[in-house]
Amino acid sequence: MKLVSDRAVAAAAELDTVSDFFRTYRMGVPDEQVRADLTFGNPHEMALPRLVESLKRRIEPRRVDWFAYKTSEEEARDVVARALMAELGLAFEPEDIAMTPGAFAAIGVAFSMLMDPGDECIIPMPGWFAYTTMLRARNTVPVKVPLDDRTWDLDVSGIERAITPRTRIVIINTPHNPTGVVYSRERLSELAQMLQRKSADMGRPIFILSDEPYRRIRFDGVHYTSPAQVYPWTLIDYSYAKILLAPGLRLGYLAICPDMPQEARDELRQLAMSVQISLGWAFPDALAQYAVADLETVSIDIEAFRKKRDRVLGALTQWGYTLTKPQGTFYIWGKAPGGDAHLFTRRLAEHGVYVMPGTLFERPGEFRISLTGSAEMIEASLPAFEAMSA
Ligand SMILES: Cc1ncc(COP(=O)(O)O)c(C=O)c1O
Repeated sequence: MKLVSDRAVAAAAELDTVSDFFRTYRMGVPDEQVRADLTFGNPHEMALPRLVESLKRRIEPRRVDWFAYKTSEEEARDVVARALMAELGLAFEPEDIAMTPGAFAAIGVAFSMLMDPGDECIIPMPGWFAYTTMLRARNTVPVKVPLDDRTWDLDVSGIERAITPRTRIVIINTPHNPTGVVYSRERLSELAQMLQRKSADMGRPIFILSDEPYRRIRFDGVHYTSPAQVYPWTLIDYSYAKILLAPGLRLGYLAICPDMPQEARDELRQLAMSVQISLGWAFPDALAQYAVADLETVSIDIEAFRKKRDRVLGALTQWGYTLTKPQGTFYIWGKAPGGDAHLFTRRLAEHGVYVMPGTLFERPGEFRISLTGSAEMIEASLPAFEAMSA
């Protein structure tokens, strides 16, 4: 008897590797035996005081409708539009902003707004685990295109070759999880020119979904270009989870590039709210929206992350590891000694140190370290990496 939908089964199948790993990676090891869990981008220290203070202050109701149903709150949209304008130099208006429970939901809204069943979305690989499951849940098709596996830069010709008449979206995640690469303006402009040409050939635009939750986490003054600055058919998704290191606070947005032709911009603006309702009221909680004005100016200590990055890079390269120096994000990506990431991460775990095998990114020879562990955890993990380097 067929009980559940094919697309739910297909969506779940895309998550098999990730769910199995999540269930089993600690193998029931109690916290006190764990020296360092550097697997996921989760906090390992208490939340930022300014985040907590803001939420405490905003929880006190100021009006009877304080906790009424909320869509995208006017003040939150206004704050975001101004902040984006200052950051990217584009003329965002509050109506271009749809407030969402994190980047996850913003990506879902973009997929639902732009894609019909059978439509295709190009994903540079290795890429974040959830794009494919979200696409399968909509009966839409992920098309994977490898990044250059020496530099992890975008392969514009590879993307061009993957385009078909069903291509609706190309996802660009910059700074990039897991490699930490920040794409250059030159490469993004090259991509934009190619997409303009292909869109003209097809008689309808191919969109870029610019997945930017790590936009503000960059090191060494590296310059940032958003695809929205070079390609008008761009939607930006953002999350406050990374900059606040608080992914349990579901807050983010989808923003329409203001350079899009006005008619298209209006159509997307109008559609967003209905799509968010259709997806099950995909708006952030009232409290999170009230806090946006404060949270826009709160950040983890990026300099402390840079120090952790340099400590890990310095130590591990000295022991023979091949790692990519991240320009942004809080991850380090590298080759697993011996070439088998699954085996490597299992053996590292025997020393009480946990990292993510590249199998979760369809790269079985690589692994990812999350720098969200405390400086003490990172220090405590180093002997295990040294022991595994031989
Ligand atoms: C590249 C990328 N996009 C989107 C997300 C989703 O962010 P959030 O959980 O804040 O919605 C993540 C989270 O890990 C991510 O790494």
